[in-house]
Amino acid sequence: MFKIIVPESRHYDEMYKIHVSQMPLNDIMTKENFFDEFKQENRYYFAIIQDNMLIGYIGLYEYDDDLNIIGIAIEGKFQQKGYGSILIEYAKQFAKEKNKKSLSLEVDEKNKNAIKFYISKGFVVTNIRKKYYKDNDAFVMFLYL
Ligand SMILES: CC(C)(COP(=O)(O)OP(=O)(O)OC[C@H]1O[C@@H](n2cnc3c(N)ncnc32)[C@H](O)[C@@H]1OP(=O)(O)O)[C@@H](O)C(=O)NCCC(=O)NCCS
Repeated sequence: MFKIIVPESRHYDEMYKIHVSQMPLNDIMTKENFFDEFKQENRYYFAIIQDNMLIGYIGLYEYDDDLNIIGIAIEGKFQQKGYGSILIEYAKQFAKEKNKKSLSLEVDEKNKNAIKFYISKGFVVTNIRKKYYKDNDAFVMFLYL
């Protein structure tokens, strides 16, 4: 059985390992910036744990009526087993409880797997940000609640 937790400092290293190993190269934060995230206001991180193992996380940034997904990553061998969907569903509930109108995100146009994942969760592309990731454009995607 899995559980979703608000990560504590003892979880940060494991989360950063997943971040570095799974996020596209042009979206990787320095360890300092990643750890700094947990101190920022209007940011919410959740991690999914199964059998005492941290399997993945989602980071959310609250802005006005929207919760923006800063990042979501699942440890490689646990991908495509539904854990990402669980985190998105959790984020959706969390957003609704906070009376938000949408979840949003930016994704590298080349990250086809993530785009398929978001589309399967009901997100739609609303905008394109040119050269948002150095050489690549970003799709801005929204899920209206
Ligand atoms: C994107 C990511 C978070 C998805 O999490 P996940 O646990 O693997 O996804 P799920 O198992 O819940 O998949 C749900 C649906 O998404 C789609 N999907 C997920 N991974 C996919 C992949 N590698 N290729 C194609 N479709 C994929 C499928 O449609 C899947 O539906 P299915 O159940 O019919 O197969 C995860 O693969 C990941 O960590 N990727 C690397 C990090 C990343 O790119 N993050 C996003 C940056 S913006």
